[in-house]
Amino acid sequence: MDIEHKIRELEARNLEAETGGGRKRIEEQHKKGKMTARERIEYLLDKGSFEELDKFVVHRCQDFGMDKKKIPGDGVVTGYGTVNGRRVFIFSQDFTVFGGSLSGAFGQKVCKVMDLALKNGSPMIGLNDSGGARIQEGVMSLAGYGEIFKRNVWSSGVVPQISVIMGPCAGGAVYSPALTDLTIMVKKTSNMFITGPQVIKAVTSEDVSAEDLGGAMAHNTKSGVAHFAEDTDQAALDRVRDILSYLPQNCREKVPEVECTDDPNRTEAFLNTLVPTNPRLPYDIKDIIRAILDHNRFLEVHQHFAKNMVVGFGRLNGISVGIIANQPKFLAGCLDTKASVKCARFVRMCDAFNIPTITFVDVPGYLPGVQQEYDGIIKHGAKIIFAYSEATVPKITVVTRKAYGGAYIAMSAKHLGGDINFAYPTAEIAVMGPEGAANIIFRKEIAEAEDPAATRERLVEEYRNNFASPFKAAELGYTDHIIFPEKTRPRLIQALMMLKGKREFLPERRHGNIPL
Ligand code: HXC
Repeated sequence: MDIEHKIRELEARNLEAETGGGRKRIEEQHKKGKMTARERIEYLLDKGSFEELDKFVVHRCQDFGMDKKKIPGDGVVTGYGTVNGRRVFIFSQDFTVFGGSLSGAFGQKVCKVMDLALKNGSPMIGLNDSGGARIQEGVMSLAGYGEIFKRNVWSSGVVPQISVIMGPCAGGAVYSPALTDLTIMVKKTSNMFITGPQVIKAVTSEDVSAEDLGGAMAHNTKSGVAHFAEDTDQAALDRVRDILSYLPQNCREKVPEVECTDDPNRTEAFLNTLVPTNPRLPYDIKDIIRAILDHNRFLEVHQHFAKNMVVGFGRLNGISVGIIANQPKFLAGCLDTKASVKCARFVRMCDAFNIPTITFVDVPGYLPGVQQEYDGIIKHGAKIIFAYSEATVPKITVVTRKAYGGAYIAMSAKHLGGDINFAYPTAEIAVMGPEGAANIIFRKEIAEAEDPAATRERLVEEYRNNFASPFKAAELGYTDHIIFPEKTRPRLIQALMMLKGKREFLPERRHGNIPL
């Protein structure tokens, strides 16, 4: 064969691989509103930056007539490229080839890029659209999953790992996304479950649709398995680009810092009156968050889950920060089991990737209730304490109003290593709310009074004035400064710039034992 033939053969083989499962299946994919595996990569990565690997890999299965059905690439497109000029590694499952199911060869392809991502210290992006284990291959396919899971774990906290669910993701296959840092689901076209509706019907007689069981909103609102729900493939991929902009390439790299065109000394007069002095009145903590961040841009994570806790990314003076905040608009900002897990996991992700934490506190306490206790509020609440105590990134806290009891400590108090702890003049830092406190310590006095109601009111007020203020904590140095709310942004930026050189080391150990 002369060289021209060889080149033409390469062209033909490239085209065959690029066509995946064929035109008809590509059309079917489009009809479902889904992009193909290659279109997704093209869309996500910088134009022309994608370098493919293992394009001609085929499976090695001989059973069920599979030896006659081989498609180059074997159902997954893998390689590397850039996003906003920064290196990323990627795999994109191709549903048009054997339903994107995972064979031994497919697993090896994915492992190869995961190894490269880890060795090079670059983010790993997984685009999932698959019928799960390739049924014809049996245990070879399971081995592939196991190898992927192990790499997910080894990469955890070393390089950012982002999963996008863009089709089915069932059975054990869900555990790879579950082991990554952030999961984005596409509404209507994606689902995740361990066992699907038919198996559930057979085992428990429950009737549930795939969407209700494992659709984007089920996992964004109920289980918390997914962190984002997007309307289309394109929106999900845009989200990946956005998320990556806040993250460093790996745990050794400094947090991203972009040029800041928003005035670091910007003040916001409305903040002086935003927090109601009446502790029963709610307000939206996101009004404060947006007001203080560069260009008012807040990328909320886990927006639909445990709304009493708000977490997400933003920038202060161009530096990426992680925001964690109680939300007085929901459950009065109480800490329950779900909010605790949401908060602790986000703090740990920030700490893993050198992202300073900014914590806004307005918390009446842990949520009381029999079910909360049975659900393990003790161990889940402990996760917050664990996460903040072990985090060595700069930690800045602002108490806007209530900071009571154990929840005061948990929410990045000085005692857990808060570097700079601010309070608003409206802050109430105390062991419990004035009403509860007065009821206990003045019980006898109230009971014996001529007018118990008036006495109670007077004593509650007395307690509030004496203890439910930021001044006791400031006198003790537990609060570094009581600030004018309008100056929150400049004060946070000053603190953040001061903490840029922070270095802190924990005692040597194999690893902590976070209460799981
Ligand atoms: C081999 C598969 C496959 C699989 C789909 N296909 N899943 N081939 N192994 N797991 C093939 C189909 O046979 C079909 O081929 C093509 O992909 C498209 O599938 P359709 O069924 O036509 O598509 P659709 O109607 O959209 O349904 C998609 C689906 C369904 C919901 C994913 O295919 C399905 O239920 N598949 C089986 C899912 C499953 O049980 N997987 C194993 C889970 S156990 P043809 O040639 O006919 O078009 C598991 C264990 C992992 O994953 C454990 C890891 C630890």
